[in-house]
Amino acid sequence: MIYVSPSLLAADFGDLRTELRRMIDADANYIHLDVMDGTFVPNISFGATVISCLRKRCGLIFDVHLMVKEPLRFVDDYLRAGADIITVHLEACKDVKKTIRYIRSKEVRVGLAISPETPVEKIIPYLPEIDMALVMTVHPGFGGQKFMPECVEKVRTIRRYAVSHDLDLDIEVDGGINEENTSIVTEAGANVIVAGSAIFKSKHPGHVIAKMRVNADLHPYKPE
Ligand code: DX5
Ligand code: ZN
Repeated sequence: MIYVSPSLLAADFGDLRTELRRMIDADANYIHLDVMDGTFVPNISFGATVISCLRKRCGLIFDVHLMVKEPLRFVDDYLRAGADIITVHLEACKDVKKTIRYIRSKEVRVGLAISPETPVEKIIPYLPEIDMALVMTVHPGFGGQKFMPECVEKVRTIRRYAVSHDLDLDIEVDGGINEENTSIVTEAGANVIVAGSAIFKSKHPGHVIAKMRVNADLHPYKPE
């Protein structure tokens, strides 16, 4: 079973209330909230104030993806705003261990993300301490980019490690995912699918999400 996490970055920011409702009606599992600081990535999106307002309107799991430098500085803000999952970038943390341990000590799940240029070996030592690994399949910073198939092997490596070490680990993929390439990432071992443009820009987001689930079921992870 996969979890589908529509990325709000592709929504109509002038009418977030309606956009959230569309995602609830489309049977999304999570809402993916991309926080960008203009420093770690060359773009600025929204922050904790917006998320806390959305929290009052939506009961879906809030999957907060922090693309910010030294995220430990802001974790408390996102806890207060109502995050359920807080994911930080390995490349953005001065002290990765300290950051993930702090998030884990709170009542939320912790994710650790790697950008396309980061080798998968870097995330391996942290896998026993996190709930979710996020493998970026585009360069972080913008929605609507093209899926990078060369990142898929990282998903496989992480899933293989998780299985062989008996870890209960979610693997999320983010960037350029649509109903067609969902099967490529689920086959490699991903079980949380982020999609912005493919879902929000569709007239029928519910159909897109349903198709993703069907394709994932047709192509489950197969250990070699
Ligand atoms: C990119 C963000 C993504 C983005 C995905 O930095 O992390 O979550 O919104 O958007 P699509 O699915 O359009 O590539
Ligand atoms: Zn994201």
